[in-house]
Amino acid sequence: MRNKIIVGNWKMNNSSSESLELVKKINDLVVWKSDVEVVVCPPSVYIATTVKEIKGIKGCQIKVGAQNGHFESKGAFTGEISCAMLIDVGVEYVVVGHSERRQYFGETDEVVNKRALCAIKSGLTPIVCVGETLAERENSITEEIIRKQVKLILNGISENEIEKVIIAYEPIWAIGTGKTATNEQANEVCKSIRNLVYELYGEKVSEAIRIQYGGSMNGENARELLSQSEIDGGLVGGASLKAEEFSKIVNSAHNDNN
Ligand code: 13P
Repeated sequence: MRNKIIVGNWKMNNSSSESLELVKKINDLVVWKSDVEVVVCPPSVYIATTVKEIKGIKGCQIKVGAQNGHFESKGAFTGEISCAMLIDVGVEYVVVGHSERRQYFGETDEVVNKRALCAIKSGLTPIVCVGETLAERENSITEEIIRKQVKLILNGISENEIEKVIIAYEPIWAIGTGKTATNEQANEVCKSIRNLVYELYGEKVSEAIRIQYGGSMNGENARELLSQSEIDGGLVGGASLKAEEFSKIVNSAHNDNN
């Protein structure tokens, strides 16, 4: 059975004191069990302090991720942060190809592929995001779009490396809109991603790889979404900024709850 993974993508939110307060509260409210991994992704300037704070909280099992990582190890890339730097400050995961990066910063599947490859080679676990627009869903080309994205992003990732990858299905129309994909819609796309991984890497890998859903997940809808057979976790935006909501999502992900 695949362990679930709940990731809080804080995006460009929280001050340093709010970040620290949030992890403390999450730790108080979450029921820690080994079947669910919990990750928070603070803005890059707060990553190091968040790692330090978590280490100082007794029994806290929150891991830290970054919202982005560059594909070169160092050099003249103003404003970017390398995967080696992320590792250096205690980061274990990195989100790559979030739709907001694609929309506002022009990231293409090719760039996302380079970031994912570099993350793996550096020892980070990439959380690669894919998703369709509302127009694409309405034109019934969701599966085609998602297959194309996944294929391009996984290009060059070997069978040994792929198990380290987490794929996040985030329909763009469900992000920050309060509109969640139905359980069936989310499960169907996650299933088609798993089928593609089967075609590319075979059964063992397709059964092992974890596929998350993201898009207006909250304390109310998480249990149903997370009980779907193909959904192995959540990539959570807005609700990850509220300790009560986020902890509710984490607690509903335990095996005995879904
Ligand atoms: P919301 O949960 O706010 O819809 O954001 C989802 C997301 O983009 C997580 O990466």
